Amino acid sequence: MRLSHSLALVFALFGALITGGLVARNVRVARRDAYARTERLGAVTLEAVRALVQVQARQGRFIELGRNLGGLVRLADVATVVVRDGRGRRLVARSDDLSLLARRPHLGRGPAQSVDGIYDVSAPVDLGARGRGVVEVGFRTASLEARLRAIAAEGVQAGVTASLALALSAWLIGLFAGERIESVVARIESLSAAPERFRPLGRGGAGGAEIGRLVEAFNRMGASLKAENQARRRLEAEKRELSAMLVHDLKTPLTVIRSGISLLGELAPRGADGKRDHERTYELVELSTARLQRMVEDVLQLAKLEEASELQREEPVALDVLARACAKDFELVVTSRKQRLELRLPDPPPPPVLGDGALLRRVFDNLVHNAVEHTPAGGVISIGVRRDGADVLVEICDSGPGVPAEARADVFRKFFQKDVKRHVGNVGLGLALCEKVVLRHGGVIAVGDAQPKGARFYFTLPAAPADAAVA
Ligand SMILES: Nc1ncnc2c1ncn2[C@@H]1O[C@H](COP(=O)(O)OP(=O)(O)OP(=O)(O)O)[C@@H](O)[C@H]1O
Ligand SMILES: [Mg+2]
Repeated sequence: MRLSHSLALVFALFGALITGGLVARNVRVARRDAYARTERLGAVTLEAVRALVQVQARQGRFIELGRNLGGLVRLADVATVVVRDGRGRRLVARSDDLSLLARRPHLGRGPAQSVDGIYDVSAPVDLGARGRGVVEVGFRTASLEARLRAIAAEGVQAGVTASLALALSAWLIGLFAGERIESVVARIESLSAAPERFRPLGRGGAGGAEIGRLVEAFNRMGASLKAENQARRRLEAEKRELSAMLVHDLKTPLTVIRSGISLLGELAPRGADGKRDHERTYELVELSTARLQRMVEDVLQLAKLEEASELQREEPVALDVLARACAKDFELVVTSRKQRLELRLPDPPPPPVLGDGALLRRVFDNLVHNAVEHTPAGGVISIGVRRDGADVLVEICDSGPGVPAEARADVFRKFFQKDVKRHVGNVGLGLALCEKVVLRHGGVIAVGDAQPKGARFYFTLPAAPADAAVA
């Protein structure tokens, strides 16, 4: 909810609570006063009636008394006046409603506790020759209650008006101050998302000194964040450029070294068993330069993928053909490690996918390379490619130790290696490159368990439209 609206709501609620409390209190006080006044008026009237009854009864003028009491009933808000003798018999009784004369008065109840709309009072009286008696007067409370209801209604009206006035003023405050705070908050949010797009806020406008200070602090913070961000980006770009140049420059001498070693290996004198002198050293040097070349290639490809937002090539690629070529290239390594490499390709072959064949081949190479490295002698590695609905699924399984569940989310991170000592000579970039390539092709890559044991790396890529033919 917007700040200005929240402010208006909070003020309206407080207003309603405060004015509601005030109204309730006023109505309570008004009621108490009105009842007290009624009781006082009742006592005075009763005293006057008692005096009149006493004077006229002592003189035996009961007919005149009846007339006087009738006048009282007509003129005042009196419902009944009854004079009884010592035995409770009615001597004189007057009322504006004859049916009321038969009722028993509810003595001892105040005007607030009246059960039938009449407040009764009584007093003893000296009736002269008729002995002692009692005079009872009943007052109507209907007009009193109507007045009290009117007071309560006026109070509620005043309360509602006050709440509305408070809400309106809060809304206006919200409009001037709240809206300004909101605009600062919105700009802080966009600043944290994109510091390079920072624009200072204007200092003018409503909202008071505090908001002015807030705007100034925001402008200072935004300017320094923008400058820092620009410097960091410049530095990062320079670093990336430098390392890309270095890695790229490594490629040429590496190719020269590799072909030189291979030439030297061919020319090397051989023993009676056909093996070269220093065979193991040759093997190690060949293996290491091949690994170095692969690493350099991975670093370069990863940097290229991170720079460009689009794939440079997009053509139909047959993944089963890539799988066959990859298996052939790993044949020698697998045999020398006493492992077995199986190809699982369906007939007819799966549909092609659209993408960069060279990059996809690196994904196969990296996954099979990892499988070979993690599988003990006598183990099996398999490469499978098949259709999976609208996708083509590739899986590379091995019979090594597998990837534990807790490391699965991390293996695709750059430079992640579960057991650094075990991977001397590796950098931890292979799977990061695989993930980047697969994602760029609109696919997903994951790792799970192979059966009966080992790691199962798999990825899916969307199959190319039916009319796409492999080049
Ligand atoms: N088939 C596998 N079986 C078990 N663990 C694996 C397997 N493949 C990868 N891993 C784990 O994932 C980590 C990351 O693999 P990744 O290919 O990214 O790096 P690397 O092989 O160590 O180095 P690089 O491929 O850059 O030479 C490995 O160090 C290893 O711990
Ligand atoms: Mg690897």
